[in-house]
Amino acid sequence: MTIPVITIDGPTASGKGTVADAVAQALGWHVLDSGALYRLTALVCLRREIDPDSVRAVADVARTLDVSFNDGIRLAGEAVSLEIRAEAVGNLASRVAAYPEVREALLQRQRDFRVAPGLVADGRDMGTAVFPDAGLKVFLLASAEARAARRHKQLMEKGIPATLGDLLEDLRARDARDTGRAASPLKPASDARILDSSDLSIDETVQQVLAWYGHPG
Ligand code: DC
Repeated sequence: MTIPVITIDGPTASGKGTVADAVAQALGWHVLDSGALYRLTALVCLRREIDPDSVRAVADVARTLDVSFNDGIRLAGEAVSLEIRAEAVGNLASRVAAYPEVREALLQRQRDFRVAPGLVADGRDMGTAVFPDAGLKVFLLASAEARAARRHKQLMEKGIPATLGDLLEDLRARDARDTGRAASPLKPASDARILDSSDLSIDETVQQVLAWYGHPG
């Protein structure tokens, strides 16, 4: 029997992570934050001062990441959940994610998260490339303004300084890069359901995903 997967793809700060966590919790399933793998790759590159233009060196980092998700996100045992959310890490993640070699290096690692009773996977290419046979594929949208405001709130809560204008500019640049790259660009799978969450609460968004899956919620 194949293990069920729900994929939630969408642009940066669309709320994918929060929605994926809540859907996974409602179903009692596992969750994969695939963006964290790209962010971890970027973090290691920054720390080791690896030239981001050196595709081979960056792909080596991706291939050899020593990561665990069991107790927060850990890199060789060190808690890095907060550090990988920094804008500098996110921006570099979006750059290195354009390399097919990096995506290939992370592919099997992502598929290994598919364990019983099920998986909710969030990212950019979960429905198109990593889990093309997923039973439900959701493409989560929200306006750039709504996403910038959400990210601003998140960062403030974590005590990370940021301005709304910079965030809006950053996320537009990241959208353009994630959408415009040749390797697994950000786009809805042909069989994805589009969900615009600009005017929805997190709970309403989660309930819609569960309803599509046929779960009473
Ligand atoms: O979801 P996020 O913001 O944590 O992702 C960080 C970057 O990683 C994002 O700008 C693009 C990249 N990414 C990707 O290319 N494919 C994924 N499945 C997830 C993230």
